[in-house]
Amino acid sequence: MSFVSHQLRCIGSGERIAPDAVSSDFRDPATGELYEVEYSWSETRGDAAAPRPNAQALRHLWAERRDSTLPIDASGVWRYRDLLPILKDENNAVTLREGNTPLYDLPRTSKLLGLDFLLTKHQGMNPTGSFKDTGMTTALSVAAERGYKWVACASTGNTSAAMAAYAARAGLRAIVFIPEGKIAWGKLSQSMDYGALTVQLKTDFDGCVKLLTEIVRKNPIYLLNSVNPYRLEGQKTPAIEICEQLDWQVPDHVIVPGGNLANGSALGKGFTELKHLGFIDRVPKISVIQAAGANPLFQWFTNEEKQLHPVTADTRATAIRIGNPASWRKAARVIEATGGWCEQADENEIAVAKAQIGAEGIGCEPASAVTLAGLKKLLKSGHVQTGERVVLLLTGHTLKDPEYTIDFHKDLLATDVAEAAPYRRPPLVLDANESSVMRALEAEMAGSL
Ligand code: F0G
Repeated sequence: MSFVSHQLRCIGSGERIAPDAVSSDFRDPATGELYEVEYSWSETRGDAAAPRPNAQALRHLWAERRDSTLPIDASGVWRYRDLLPILKDENNAVTLREGNTPLYDLPRTSKLLGLDFLLTKHQGMNPTGSFKDTGMTTALSVAAERGYKWVACASTGNTSAAMAAYAARAGLRAIVFIPEGKIAWGKLSQSMDYGALTVQLKTDFDGCVKLLTEIVRKNPIYLLNSVNPYRLEGQKTPAIEICEQLDWQVPDHVIVPGGNLANGSALGKGFTELKHLGFIDRVPKISVIQAAGANPLFQWFTNEEKQLHPVTADTRATAIRIGNPASWRKAARVIEATGGWCEQADENEIAVAKAQIGAEGIGCEPASAVTLAGLKKLLKSGHVQTGERVVLLLTGHTLKDPEYTIDFHKDLLATDVAEAAPYRRPPLVLDANESSVMRALEAEMAGSL
């Protein structure tokens, strides 16, 4: 399959530019807005005569590729490369066999909430443990194809882990800016393990973004934050994978965590393109959940203002500790166009939801658990009905932030809600003899009756 050309379209003005004409910060100098990748067949292009990818043929081709041993076929992102023709040569794809993540049910949680259909799409099962790999394989491949030697990102930890890994695979140098003291150690260690120049800045995520934007303006360093529209091309593929895994039956509602707000935007693009091309007959509602301590989109949504007011972010769900999200306009459009909603979850709600997911044998990082916390609220407010088929996006692996989990179980998170108590499993320190173990076992069995 030869890769067709694409262009970048400003989401504010609709102006189009050639891919190599884009500025280093990926913003339109006239409007300050972001770009999206547009193909000849894209709906925004409005060209009914343009040849379109054939849905029927591609469903077969994608299924066949699952049996192929070629790395780009084994990748759960590049397997769908026909809908993301962003490279001049597909052999330039840098892949760690990302994607191909499982859909898990949550039987006990569904029962508790009175839902018949509740699945989680576990993006934490990606090679570096978060959904960021799906977007990093695409954007970093573009960087490598265009001959960049250095790539960079500001991150709350997962983007930097993913970027460092893919850069290492491609033989590129990577520089990472992270807020000092405000990211989980697991993520910080990954960036070092994969050989990136890891810089802890004495500021928050928003401060890191600001400084990095200045630096890439003046140096030949390719920016891999999610303002880079090629990130979203990879991050749209879980939408395709969900539909494929459900035998092309579309869920009614997809719920995602919101930080910098690229992920909800990317999934919206994915589902919308699938509908436009005739793979599916409708687009699911997409709802975004923010941490209450980092909730600018929630505030914008409930106040119905035209402009977003950045907040000073604070939450133990450090992945989404972001007060000035770059992709807020894209996300707001997706939520509104699909009929979804924006909710917030406080620290107690996040902690309980994370424990409930963990108790199902799945586990995720705190930022992912906002989806379940938000679902409970959407059910209460009627934005989700019990008959709906709901999919929660779990964005990161539980081992990304073990400190949070340990603090929860040791009751150090200040989660003072009764709901948390049944899930607490603090580690026991016992004398090394049979009777003390038996006493503990008996106490546990009596408690669980
Ligand atoms: N969940 C996790 C685990 C994340 O790491 C992030 C973002 C999000 C959700 C939110 O996604 O930003 O697209 O709305 N983490 C970024 C990072 C910002 O630097 O790793 P978003």
